[in-house]
Amino acid sequence: MTKNKLKTDFIVIGSGISGVRAAISASKYGKVLIVTKSKLESGSTKHAQGGVAVALSTKDNTKLHFADTISAGAGVCDPEAVWILVTEGLERIKELIKWGTEFDRQDGKLSFTKEGAHRKRRVIHAHGDATGQELERSLLEKVKSNKKINFKEHFFTVDLIVNDGKCYGIVGIDRNSGEKVLIYSKAVILASGGAGQVFLSTTNPLVSTGDGVAMASRAGAYIADMEFIQFHPTALALDITPRFLISEAVRGEGAILLNHSGKRFMENFPMKELAPRDIVAREIFYEMKRERKDFVYLDLSRISKSRILKRFPTIYKFCKGYNLDITKDPVPVVPSSHYLVGGVKTDYNAQTNIEGLFACGEVANVGIHGANRLASNSLLDGLVFGRRAGEMMNIFKKQKVIEVKNKLNLGKTSNQTFTKDRLKLQATMQKYVGIIRDKSNLKKSLRTVLMLKKKLNKAYLNIELLELQNLLIVGELIIKGALAREESRGSHFREDFPFTNDLQWKRHILFRKGRRIE
Ligand code: SIN
Repeated sequence: MTKNKLKTDFIVIGSGISGVRAAISASKYGKVLIVTKSKLESGSTKHAQGGVAVALSTKDNTKLHFADTISAGAGVCDPEAVWILVTEGLERIKELIKWGTEFDRQDGKLSFTKEGAHRKRRVIHAHGDATGQELERSLLEKVKSNKKINFKEHFFTVDLIVNDGKCYGIVGIDRNSGEKVLIYSKAVILASGGAGQVFLSTTNPLVSTGDGVAMASRAGAYIADMEFIQFHPTALALDITPRFLISEAVRGEGAILLNHSGKRFMENFPMKELAPRDIVAREIFYEMKRERKDFVYLDLSRISKSRILKRFPTIYKFCKGYNLDITKDPVPVVPSSHYLVGGVKTDYNAQTNIEGLFACGEVANVGIHGANRLASNSLLDGLVFGRRAGEMMNIFKKQKVIEVKNKLNLGKTSNQTFTKDRLKLQATMQKYVGIIRDKSNLKKSLRTVLMLKKKLNKAYLNIELLELQNLLIVGELIIKGALAREESRGSHFREDFPFTNDLQWKRHILFRKGRRIE
């Protein structure tokens, strides 16, 4: 094979927690190639602060974790998928500990914190607020020592190679050489993360451009529940892109939300500042609007200085770099897009409707998050369904890698930049498709997205353009889903349909190739 044509048994797209966990299992059945468009550590995983929700405390059990997840999901979780998550999650965490992941402990026992909509302290964490970093460290160490797993960094996957409903590999660009490369495999596992960059204000890294959802959509995979975008209530309200997260665990340890007059505005809500994320984010939004301000305050004065330094060293250090001492100063916070609840539809084994194509982690939609993800369930999701995806490679181990023709013409390279167009999309999504929506604004946003799509329908090789085209596909799906769902549920709030309508809408919205099919 030439250097522009490679073969491997299995491809994993993405090097976050779900991708590496999938690769570990897949390597039992053949050679695995993990491709990632930037560096191995550039995804969302390392930014996870709060921790991993898992019912390992003696005061907790899987039934309670199940019930809290279902309740946060606002009526549209798939109970079987949630049960798999909470029960297999126990094994995945014990396994991680065996593999060397260091979770925080007190007197030798795991420490648990609380986050929104959890009735128990069930969130385990590492190095205070550096849980994602620790998980990434230990898992990457494990995959790097596995001879059957190889990596290709700086490889931008443009498309899946799909023929007659079967996936044969991927086509992409080697960013070092600028050349088009075809990689054939027996199966592909999509673990490319979320799409937070479709909004202006996001906690997601710059690489979160929805490439996985977009390429799966182009290939004919079912895409579900795209209207459900989770906004994290407390991102640091400083002019930094992407926004720095102030973990929900800070509220779990006792911090409260104050408006600019110093009034605690969540006090009368059940669970107060620890209500489900959609409720807290919405109330902050209304408070900002009422006071005509761009942020509210998170006040940590009820937590002792020593506790803050022990539990939140990363947040403390980051804020200190901006002259903000969280042990003394109220922290300005603003809700920001954080998690793509919808995604590529899969069954319980991460299988999509395309043969040989699997999806896990944030890019996937197996039904565990319903209309609003329970805090700290996503790392567990990545572990549980990443492993399930990897284990499915067992059925392909005796198959052959088949080369099929791929006609993708990437044209000549262009250095044109698209910053203005990307900003226009992000600003439009932020203004019209954010925490509060209505028909007229959603229609306005759809017009802008369609106009940009038409304008940018160019065929030449430019990764900035390819990312923007992916963001436009994701944006269009979010808007169409939000327009179709004429009710309010979980993270989707329509001011013109403020109530939940179970009779009509306790169901999912499904797209195929950009068209609504359910
Ligand atoms: C956080 O620490 O607040 C983020 C955790 C999550 O998004 O689940």
